[in-house]
Amino acid sequence: MTVKIAPSILSADFAKLGEEVRAIDAAGCDWVHVDVMDGHFVPNITIGPGVVKAIRPHTAKTFDVHLMIEPVDPYIPEFAAAGSDIITVHAEAGAHLHRSLQLIRSLGKKAGVSLNPSTPESVLEYVLDDLDLVLVMSVNPGFGGQAFIESQVEKIRRIKALIGTRPIELEVDGGVNPETAKRCIAAGATALVAGSAVFKGGPDAYAANIAALRG
Ligand code: DX5
Ligand code: ZN
Repeated sequence: MTVKIAPSILSADFAKLGEEVRAIDAAGCDWVHVDVMDGHFVPNITIGPGVVKAIRPHTAKTFDVHLMIEPVDPYIPEFAAAGSDIITVHAEAGAHLHRSLQLIRSLGKKAGVSLNPSTPESVLEYVLDDLDLVLVMSVNPGFGGQAFIESQVEKIRRIKALIGTRPIELEVDGGVNPETAKRCIAAGATALVAGSAVFKGGPDAYAANIAALRG
């Protein structure tokens, strides 16, 4: 099975987001990755549920919504209603990860957990049957265009072993390019987020950029 590619619209032209979403859809992406930042959990502010709702009609592909916000629970229902398919929360964003995952699933959405580079995979141990996706951050969340942190390849490998035969997607986010993608896939990644590596060169380059990530 080929790896899923989830372009991060953080690297898109925000002045024409609908068009950009249609362009990555046509270029063969699998999911659309939406980075939500609050200027508190991470040092950047990006987009809210209103933008998710506005771009929803532009593609039928899975909306993979990455919430880098704290607190997170109060905002989950709104992101679900806006058209998210997968909602991912950070393990570091609250004391009640299990509760957040239950809330996401109770709204009929797939539940993901993201881990910062310094967070050990052991936080997943008691929620493995309550989640649909693990998102390994291979940069410190907050900005696109940062360099891949190599130590995360070993973490991907360990999480793959923890997952075993469960139907859980293992996604990697940050500094993914055709070079680092190979190591992520070899370690067990099933989905890759890429911002700069997809959007560089403008719409005419998106299809080739996505194909290059699949290897
Ligand atoms: C970082 C975001 C990423 C980011 C990836 O906080 O979660 O999704 O946009 O961008 P690149 O691929 O440029 O590292
Ligand atoms: Zn992300």
